[in-house]
Amino acid sequence: MSAKLRWGVLGVAGIAVNKVIPAMQKCKHAEITAIASRDASKSAAASAALGIGKHYGSYDALLADGEIDAVYNPLPNHLHVPWSKRALEAGKHVLCEKPLGLSTAEVRSLMEARDRTGLRAGEAFMVATHPQWLRAREIVRSGKIGDLRAVSVVFSYFNRDPENVRNVPEYGGGGLMDIGCYAIFGSRFLFGAEPVRAAGVLELDPDFGTDRLTSAVLEFPGGQANFVCSMQMVPAQRVTALGTRGRIEIEIPFNAPPDAPCRLWVDDGSDLAGGSRVEETFAVCDQYTLQGDAFSRAVMGEGEVPVPLEDSLRTMAAIEAIVRSSASGRWEPIAG
Ligand SMILES: NC(=O)c1ccc[n+]([C@@H]2O[C@H](COP(=O)([O-])OP(=O)(O)OC[C@H]3O[C@@H](n4cnc5c(N)ncnc54)[C@H](OP(=O)(O)O)[C@@H]3O)[C@@H](O)[C@H]2O)c1
Repeated sequence: MSAKLRWGVLGVAGIAVNKVIPAMQKCKHAEITAIASRDASKSAAASAALGIGKHYGSYDALLADGEIDAVYNPLPNHLHVPWSKRALEAGKHVLCEKPLGLSTAEVRSLMEARDRTGLRAGEAFMVATHPQWLRAREIVRSGKIGDLRAVSVVFSYFNRDPENVRNVPEYGGGGLMDIGCYAIFGSRFLFGAEPVRAAGVLELDPDFGTDRLTSAVLEFPGGQANFVCSMQMVPAQRVTALGTRGRIEIEIPFNAPPDAPCRLWVDDGSDLAGGSRVEETFAVCDQYTLQGDAFSRAVMGEGEVPVPLEDSLRTMAAIEAIVRSSASGRWEPIAG
């Protein structure tokens, strides 16, 4: 293996060409070696525009390239597990976009392929490597805000494009899968524990059949998380972690800008007008670069995969419980 892990990208996806590839091209431990598309002219154009050495007209052709160590999978959600499995079978480590698959059964099948091949696989929840999340978790663990009792998350934006993969139910579309997964992952990250049951309400888009507005409560051993997410509301995102003696607020928790400092606030609540709010800022960084380096280092034997499939399984189990609860009108246990 060369000094840098050699990555191939499956699909000329928006997230890949606009954010992840340019960010990973700044990695110390990774290089983008190849890109594939179902349409050879698309991968040729992307390789020229981004300065990627090789391009392929099919995903299989990329997987057959012996000079690729790892694959980044940014395909639509229904293709996450099938193509991640094929990549593992071809001997490649896999970093797969969120949500990891369509169901816990799918996630388990990918875990089985990972274990059988002995390769590394993980979910691309890039927030797990951003210093603002690591710091928020460190503050919770320090006891500074007392006992963590609640995590409250808002995540929304507007996208009613019928052509968009997120508005196709068979592709695993809808707001819960697309952005509710961040609220679940982030709550689990901050509590450092697993939720035991969930209650949720999904409102479906009458044309697409995907959820356009979802609210949920997750019960943790030490408290509760709640979130609202929507693909048909004003763009907004905020995370608040509330303890017995203080709270933490992350200003831009999920789409942290790569070109400006991020901020969080710690507040003991003694001045409701904001006078007791203490600001912490984080040096400019790109969470996709950090993710690429962390995953690559793990493959090279240094540290762990940032978000292993065991984590993905717990996030997916919570998604399934929320969907079941919306149908049953009752709390649902979170299995898995
Ligand atoms: N972590 C993050 O910050 C983040 C942000 C945005 C999205 N994502 C995730 O990344 C994934 C892709 O999202 P995106 O917005 O980048 O999607 P997108 O622009 O629609 O790209 C998806 C790509 O998948 C390929 N594809 C293969 N089969 C397809 C099919 N049947 N229909 C449509 N495309 C197909 C296409 O590539 P070719 O035509 O070149 O083969 C297409 O360009 C999703 O899982 C999403 O959740 C993550």
